Amino acid sequence: SGVERLGDMIAEAKTIVPFTGAGLSTECGIPDFRSPGGIWTRYRPIPFDEFVASQEARDESWRRRFAMEEVFAAAKPGRGHRALASLYRAGKVPAVITQNIDNLHQASGLAPEHVVELHGNTTYARCIGCGQIFSLDWVKQRFDADGAAPNCTSCDEPVKTATISFGQMMPEDEMQRATALSQACDLFIAIGSSLVVWPAAGFPMMAKNAGARLVIVNREPTEQDDIADLVIRNDIGETLGPFVEN
Ligand code: OAD
Ligand code: ZN
Repeated sequence: SGVERLGDMIAEAKTIVPFTGAGLSTECGIPDFRSPGGIWTRYRPIPFDEFVASQEARDESWRRRFAMEEVFAAAKPGRGHRALASLYRAGKVPAVITQNIDNLHQASGLAPEHVVELHGNTTYARCIGCGQIFSLDWVKQRFDADGAAPNCTSCDEPVKTATISFGQMMPEDEMQRATALSQACDLFIAIGSSLVVWPAAGFPMMAKNAGARLVIVNREPTEQDDIADLVIRNDIGETLGPFVEN
């Protein structure tokens, strides 16, 4: 079966780099983007330039974030996160590359420096001018007091969740680290991503071109199934559950 083949490939691999998407966290109660009921089936994305230009866009963006707070606050690592954390503890996974913003890899026991967050992190906020960090609680208090999304206390530029929006620059350091990891592994496992958003979606191919085996675990077909050595079109928790240790 697919799980057995994956087990063999994991056993044979020296360096495994997991690359994760929103499908990893659906069993934790966090919706993905493109499945039925996903975020982009309910909301139009707010591009970065709109966020910068419009107070109304910033207010709407923060209202959406606050509406999700209970879901993010309650979410615990799922079987997929725990399986990857087991492989990390076993010394097979140097780091995880993730498109996810939910902090669940860190919550499953990975050190922060071993989670490469290509699209940032939604559990705190950052000034888009000077980079100062703010807590979501601080933003919420200011939003409730002023009835509007706050600006930075240092430089007066807008404060945004520490995530990457469409049209926003990718984080340079994370892109470099993801490149190095993709090129230095012998097994690359893409998990729970439709693989349609670039440049993130370029890493599976980069790993493959550098000589790694490529496995894709996703319940729907992805854009890149045709270049994979193994495609497991099944539930992530069921597929990775057998690799959870403890
Ligand atoms: P998508 O929503 O595009 O894809 C998630 C994939 O996971 C879908 O193909 C689902 O079929 C699959 N899936 C969901 N739950 C699953 C489960 N339990 N078992 C197996 N498969 C499951 O999410 P991403 O590919 O992560 O970026 O989206 C990429 C980027 O698009 C996000 O990082 C975000 C979004 O716009 C930005 O906002 C910049
Ligand atoms: Zn600032």
